[in-house]
Amino acid sequence: MPVTELFEQAPVIDDARLQMSGAGRLRHLLTLKGLKRSMLTELLDQSEAFLSPLGNVPVRSRSLAGKTVANLFFEPSTRTRASFDLAAKRLGADVLNLDVNMSSRKKGESILDMIYTLQAMQVDIFVVRDASAGVPAYIARHVLDHVSILNAGESDVSHPTQGLLDLLTIRQCKQSFEKLIVVVVGDIAHSRVARSLASGLATMGVGELRLVSPKSLAPDPADFPRARILHKLDDGIRGADVVMALRIQRERIGNLDGIPGIDEYFANFGISHERMKLAAPDAIVMHPGPMNRGIEIESSLADSPSSMITRQVTNGLAVRMAILAAVSRTVDTR
Ligand code: CP
Repeated sequence: MPVTELFEQAPVIDDARLQMSGAGRLRHLLTLKGLKRSMLTELLDQSEAFLSPLGNVPVRSRSLAGKTVANLFFEPSTRTRASFDLAAKRLGADVLNLDVNMSSRKKGESILDMIYTLQAMQVDIFVVRDASAGVPAYIARHVLDHVSILNAGESDVSHPTQGLLDLLTIRQCKQSFEKLIVVVVGDIAHSRVARSLASGLATMGVGELRLVSPKSLAPDPADFPRARILHKLDDGIRGADVVMALRIQRERIGNLDGIPGIDEYFANFGISHERMKLAAPDAIVMHPGPMNRGIEIESSLADSPSSMITRQVTNGLAVRMAILAAVSRTVDTR
C-alpha cells in the first residue's frame, strides 16, 4: 500500500508533541517546532562537548554501547548519512547502513514492514530520510516504546539536525541571536533547511530573518510567519550578519519553466565577494551543501575565511552525536 494511503489511517498527533516522552524529554527528533529555547540550548551545549580540533583524536563515548542504529536513506545524502554513521560509531553503537535500493522494498514490502523487520533485529534508533512528507512521524507512531526515530531530511518540510548544526555554527561565530540579521538566499519554496533554520532562529529570538528568492521560488508566507520575504538580493544582504546560500532543488520541481538559468541566477541571486560588501564587515557565509559553485555561490567565496561551510559539516557530526545521546537517555530513563 502506498505510504500516503497509510498516513490517512493514522491518528492525528502533531509532530512536535509526538516527539516528546511523557516526562517532557526528547524521544524522537521529528521537527524543531515546539522545542523550547532551553532544550535547543542544551542540545547545542552538548554538541560542543563532542567537538575536538581537526587532526586530534575524535571525542568518543560509550553512551550508545549495546544499542543499534539503522540509517535508512531513501534520498541521496553525503553529509547527513556519513555523519550519523560516524556519530553512532563514536558513541559505541552497532550501525546498520541499509542500501535501500537493494532492500526488499523493491519487491513491494511496505516501509512499516521494513521497520518491523529491522525492529525485530533489535534496532533501537532509526535515522530516516525520505522524499515524502510525514514519513518520520508515521514511523514514530508505529514503533515500540524503546525505539526512537530521527528525521534526517523530510521532503521540503523539515531537516531538524541541519537546523541545529546551523544554529550551532551561528552561535559559535556570533555568540547571541537577538541582534542578528540572518539572510537565506535561494530556493526557499522547496527548502527543508530554510524551514528548520527559521523555526530554530525564531525560538532563539533572532533579530531579523530575511528570505530572498526569485519570485518563482518564493515560499508560502504562512510557512515563515516571522520572516521578511524579498526578491532583490541587494535589499536582503544589506547589513546582514549571516548569509546562507541554498541550491535550487531541481529534484522537487516538476516544471522548471520560469526557473532562472544558471547565468541569470548567479547574476541576480548568487552570493559573491562583491555582493558581500553590502553585508556587515564581519558577516559569515554559510551553505548546507551540497553546493553548486558558480551558481548560488562564487567558488572563491566558498573557500574564503568568511565561509563557515566546512565548519557546518564538522558541527553536523557533533550535533548528531548529541541527538543520538539525548534520545537514548530518554528511552533508558523512561
Ligand atoms: N545538508 C545536507 O543534508 O547534505 P546531504 O544531502 O549531503 O546530507
